[in-house]
Amino acid sequence: MPINVNENVFSIETENTMYQMCIDELGVLRHLWYGKKTGNDMGYLLDYPYICFSPSPYDAGNNRGYSLDTIPQEYSAVGTGDFRITALSVLNTDGSEAVDLRYNGYKICKGKYSIPGLPAVYAEDDSETLEIYLVDKLTNVQVVLKYGVISKYDIITRSAVICNGGESSITLKNAASMCLDIPYGQWDWIHFHGRHAMERMVERRPLFHGIQESSSKRGTSSHQQNPAVILCDKNCNEDYGDCIGAALMYSGSFGIKIELDQVNQTRVIMGINSDNFSWTLNKNEEFYTPEVILSFSDGGFSKLSHNFHNVIRNNVCRGNYKTCERPVLINNWEATYFDFDGDKIEKIAKTAAQLGIDMLVLDDGWFGKRNDDTSGLGDWVVNEDKLKCSLSQLSKRISNLGMKFGLWFEPEMISEDSDLYRTHPEWAIKMPGRNPVQCRSQMVLDMTRSDVRHYLYNSISSILKDADISYIKWDMNSSINGWYSEKIPSDRMGEMQHRYVLGVYDLLERLTHDFPNVLFEGCSGGGGRFDAGMLYYCPQFWCSDNTDSFDRTKIQYGTSFFYPVSTVGSHVSAVPNHQTGRISSLNTRGIVSMAGSFGYELDINSLSDDEQNKIKEQVIKFKKNRDLIHNGKYYRLSNATEDDFALWEFVKDGKALVQGMIFNTEPNLIHYCVKLKGLDANKKYKINSNGCYTGAALMYGGFLLDIPRGDYYGVELYVEEI
Ligand code: DGJ
Repeated sequence: MPINVNENVFSIETENTMYQMCIDELGVLRHLWYGKKTGNDMGYLLDYPYICFSPSPYDAGNNRGYSLDTIPQEYSAVGTGDFRITALSVLNTDGSEAVDLRYNGYKICKGKYSIPGLPAVYAEDDSETLEIYLVDKLTNVQVVLKYGVISKYDIITRSAVICNGGESSITLKNAASMCLDIPYGQWDWIHFHGRHAMERMVERRPLFHGIQESSSKRGTSSHQQNPAVILCDKNCNEDYGDCIGAALMYSGSFGIKIELDQVNQTRVIMGINSDNFSWTLNKNEEFYTPEVILSFSDGGFSKLSHNFHNVIRNNVCRGNYKTCERPVLINNWEATYFDFDGDKIEKIAKTAAQLGIDMLVLDDGWFGKRNDDTSGLGDWVVNEDKLKCSLSQLSKRISNLGMKFGLWFEPEMISEDSDLYRTHPEWAIKMPGRNPVQCRSQMVLDMTRSDVRHYLYNSISSILKDADISYIKWDMNSSINGWYSEKIPSDRMGEMQHRYVLGVYDLLERLTHDFPNVLFEGCSGGGGRFDAGMLYYCPQFWCSDNTDSFDRTKIQYGTSFFYPVSTVGSHVSAVPNHQTGRISSLNTRGIVSMAGSFGYELDINSLSDDEQNKIKEQVIKFKKNRDLIHNGKYYRLSNATEDDFALWEFVKDGKALVQGMIFNTEPNLIHYCVKLKGLDANKKYKINSNGCYTGAALMYGGFLLDIPRGDYYGVELYVEEI
């Protein structure tokens, strides 16, 4: 039983970890522990003296040491004398802003809970859910804290449901998914920041006293910050040390706040961004918060990443493509941009088919009047004049070549210059009387509206029914601004951002359900919405618009902390690279792109015979190793943002593949030595079909890499058990 209740103590155990809480003498749900299993009630560690200016609840009487300003809690709230960052803030009908949550029972259920309208980890096997009920006795505001357990991956999920059990309406000003108090330890935090074409850069900092934050207010999870965070002890590295990872399954504006308080305790609050958020709850209405996926590792970041990779691969990604081999695709975007017709596309497909590529993806520009990025979005009508054929004819021509056909959409957008906008200007998000703030000359559709979603469902599904389409690239190229919907009452506009996300999920749910054979790849100007929420609908995501192999090693490095390689869309593109002008060899570009859902994005017909043959070999190589790459254990062998090289390794069934890049070359270098991971110390291995090394030698001693000739030098070692 992963969930145990012993008098007033709740313990959730996974294979290697324990999460513990207790109900204290005042009925407050205290947090006791998250870490290794101890077999003990950890409450003995939490003994609080009187801390001046930290107030006590009235019912604590003269016990001044009892203060919600210091005591670790499971779900902290405003108005209780807790001056730290809090999870819940409720504006009551009388104007007071307080909620005093006390224990009101619990339930243990078989299976993992789901969340209406929101993505959530699912589990078919022996998982369990713990629900703990809290209530404010004065207002009857109720909170259900939900804990899901995926024991074998050391995963605990958290979510909260807030219900207004009172007679009149209340307003939520903040409703976080999780409050995690960590009373002891000196922690660093790692967050993943960036910008368009440079997503998920890793930044590690010691916590300072006060509040630090990683968040998005853009309506999407964003390029700038990713909704995931790691707290790790000072000495933690890839292989050693305690760390806690938390990933929010949410694709909209989010907030991760961490406070190191006056007595050196750490609190993490994670959930929907409370800026510009409010939610009215009428009598008996409920609000569901998005889910946080949590894991603790005492074996450093590698183990933490393995836990997240496992749960995302097996319990977040859904649909036929969760387990199916992902096709090797060629996308025409960087080959043609908007300048193509059906013949040009077929020509690319023809050569690609000869090289073993499985699928042709037709990117932006096939619909409406869209020959550049200033018009046409929203008009999901095939531009047959441009293609010089129908889409169904084009898809047939592609399938006659033995290839699958995929198509780009940007469903959530509308161009000012579009028939859709001319007909439905009210469908675009903009404030009344103000000009819209536009990103890439486009506006965002009001996805809170059911008529908008209905239009999109019909447009997309009729195209999917009309042509033989195996894949959709679901793009989204805007930060969202000017939040206003004529369908939302003016005093409830604070609900719009979350309602937008619910609208996107609703449409994705319907389409993925009704078209189970279509592979959905998410995209948002590259990796601007790369989060566990989107991966619930789209088992892969275009990782970045930056296809430069050198930059990609860093982007994919940051991405790998939480997201498995099978979810990372990665393509070989042309040189000089279109984003950076950098030149790297086809070999290196292939190696870097193989650490993902592999494909090509270049004018394959402009390549020499020699280059085309190399691509043929790469495709064979990738397919041969696809299972190892997508389903093997992934290890980071270097710190790609600090070291002179980026190296990673896949391990499965007695095989390993080490890949990567040495960044620069210099004369008179000696060999770099790489230590492998995940091998059996007592077994023997050959490398690139040569030699005989014990696993111990390769892991503790290492292996000498080639001395690089030329910058961005590709590294590849095939390791096989003898
Ligand atoms: C942004 C995407 O990230 C690109 O891959 C491409 O699809 C363009 N949009 C098309 O407009």
